[in-house]
Amino acid sequence: MILSAVELWRTCRECVSRPYTVFICSLAAALYYLWGRKCQVSHRGHKAFSAFLHKHCPVVAERFSPTPWCWGGRLQTLVCALLKSRPPATYRNELIRTADGGQISLDWVDNEASATYPESCTRPTVLILPGLTGNSQQSYVLHAISQATRRGYRCVVFNNRGVGGEELLTPVTYCAANTSDLGRVVQHVKGLYPYAPVLGAGVSLGGMLLLNYLARKGTESGMVAGLTISVPWNAHKSSDSMEEPLNWLLFNKYLTRGLCRAVIRHRKVLEKVADIDYVLKAQTIREFDERFTAVQFGYRTCTDYYHDASPDKKLPSTTVPILCLNAADDPFSPQNAFPLTIVQDLPNVALLLTAHGGHIAFLQGLFPRGESYMERLFGQFVQAVFEHPAQINKACCIKE
Ligand SMILES: *[C@@H]1O[C@H](CO)[C@@H](O)[C@H](O)[C@H]1NC(C)=O
Repeated sequence: MILSAVELWRTCRECVSRPYTVFICSLAAALYYLWGRKCQVSHRGHKAFSAFLHKHCPVVAERFSPTPWCWGGRLQTLVCALLKSRPPATYRNELIRTADGGQISLDWVDNEASATYPESCTRPTVLILPGLTGNSQQSYVLHAISQATRRGYRCVVFNNRGVGGEELLTPVTYCAANTSDLGRVVQHVKGLYPYAPVLGAGVSLGGMLLLNYLARKGTESGMVAGLTISVPWNAHKSSDSMEEPLNWLLFNKYLTRGLCRAVIRHRKVLEKVADIDYVLKAQTIREFDERFTAVQFGYRTCTDYYHDASPDKKLPSTTVPILCLNAADDPFSPQNAFPLTIVQDLPNVALLLTAHGGHIAFLQGLFPRGESYMERLFGQFVQAVFEHPAQINKACCIKE
């Protein structure tokens, strides 16, 4: 055990320059070896969907073992943010207008060189929805694009309003409950390529938005399937978890600052609808939502907004096949909110749960910079959906 700790110490020192991270890493290594825990992957959902996944998405049957020196949800999440590689992606940016006079920034990877789908009009499209404060530059987005494009598919990233590098033309940004912009984006994508199937892939807040959209639209969603990674199922419970002192210090404070930075960037426009100085004093995401997001979208209280934003109880209204990956130690999405009983009765929704993995991390291997469990799942599921449409619909009891 001592030997491995020394080796790990060296590995950490090579890849991370910050001394405190090295300290955390070695501490975690020690803890990991003391406990020697492994993660067991489990999934809930209908038998036929599960059988489909086992056949076409074999990663679901694998045992997920986290990076040995990176033990615990918080550490997975932090290390992922510090270490993860960033595969190159060349985007074609497109700005589309919305009914309220605003604009949305889309980042396309057309993949014209696709060998499997040389015809642009039928090339399947993955629509990627990043998380809170995220845009097309996030490493998890870049990895998703690398997985999809190598299989011959097209990608388009829906940047949340105000964080895609574009100007805000109206005092409207984004929230997890309002699906109007996503509806506009899907309509635009389907208008360009009516014969190309669209799969929605939402990460964290993007996953909430995706599930809320799929539930609201039912059979009219314009998508053939959905995938969520580390989605918060209940916004109240997520906020409670994120306000625990250590989570606040490590994540909540940082994200709140990110939210405030976006408000400062668009201060001139947003001043019309909110008391910006008061907003900028927010210390938590919940305070920010109370002072800004909920007000902006016309909710009476933040509690009302969080109720409307939570996708757990809305799952029964969805109609397309949906796969959801969550880790039980995700500080952003606590396991007491996982909709286990709701999903049991739904033929079209599968939850894939791991004991460890943190938030959008799922790091594996000694030096977890490259492809991890999450990326392999993404790649395999996207391919399963696009290459076996009849089978997946049959497995999920969806009529053609
Ligand atoms: C989203 O918000 C806009 C602006 O506040 C509003 O006009 C629209 O009806 C909302 N859409 C949904 C689906 O709630």
